[in-house]
Amino acid sequence: MLLFKTIKETRDYSEKCRKSGLKIGFVPTMGALHEGHLSLVRRAKSENDIVVCSIFVNPIQFNNPDDLLKYPRTLERDMEMLQEAGCDVVFAPAVEEMYPEKATKEYDFGALANVMEGAFRPGHFNGVGIVVHKLFDITLPHKAYFGEKDFQQLQIIKKLVELEHLDVEIIPCPISRETDGLARSSRNERLTPEMRRAAPYIYMVLQEAGNLAKTNTAAEIEKYVKFKFDSHPLLKLEYFSIASGNDLQPVTGAISEGDMGFIAVFAGEVRLIDNIQLK
Ligand code: PAJ
Repeated sequence: MLLFKTIKETRDYSEKCRKSGLKIGFVPTMGALHEGHLSLVRRAKSENDIVVCSIFVNPIQFNNPDDLLKYPRTLERDMEMLQEAGCDVVFAPAVEEMYPEKATKEYDFGALANVMEGAFRPGHFNGVGIVVHKLFDITLPHKAYFGEKDFQQLQIIKKLVELEHLDVEIIPCPISRETDGLARSSRNERLTPEMRRAAPYIYMVLQEAGNLAKTNTAAEIEKYVKFKFDSHPLLKLEYFSIASGNDLQPVTGAISEGDMGFIAVFAGEVRLIDNIQLK
């Protein structure tokens, strides 16, 4: 497995692969890797000749400076895990390599960016759009792999591809969970043992919402979920929202095909997100 720190080395390598007719699969990450990331890498390996993975904690997508500061950084361990999962190239640039100048681009992702994560984390998706566009330019992938754990991000990336007419196929990958149901996340490492024990409650309530969806309206389910968190001593609900999986716009009436529940919860100072297909 190769490790590149510069844009030039990485792009030269990708260009060479493309000239030889090799298919490139790309998995962008911020490191602190876990089984969820590795499931994307394995999928990429099964569908391409070369797998490129980036590890870059992108400062411009963090709206909370403390979250950026405390984001786990575990490059050596990440490299071992990637090697085992069949990754061919790791691109792990420094911040100055990616942003020699301040990034100023403003994307218009429309209504997709105004709800949920977009509403609670101002500027977040613009920062994601900027870095993913740059990473595509550097790694020149045929296919790029994104987890449904960050479902709204996935929709934003599809929109980015459309807006910028990029020649990359976006491959959605299912959420990988711990055995107790908690969605795998790099931020789980920051949970105290007490919060870690409490956190599976999030997916448990999402599953209950899924059951209620058979006979209840979106407004009723949202009320129920709020009630379930109001009475929880540790977890603090930021939002629970039912929205169409296609355009992410809120649903209030009966649940229809493709509607999903989206949740953000604070477990102490750690913010966790998850989602579920309701129908
Ligand atoms: P990061 O949080 O490291 O996630 C990298 C990729 O792994 C994303 O596509 C994310 O959805 C996926 N992923 C994370 N946890 C997962 C899980 N439990 N199951 C399935 N997939 C999972 O998302 C980012 O980084 C950044 O925003 C990035 C796209 C790299 C841009 O900076």
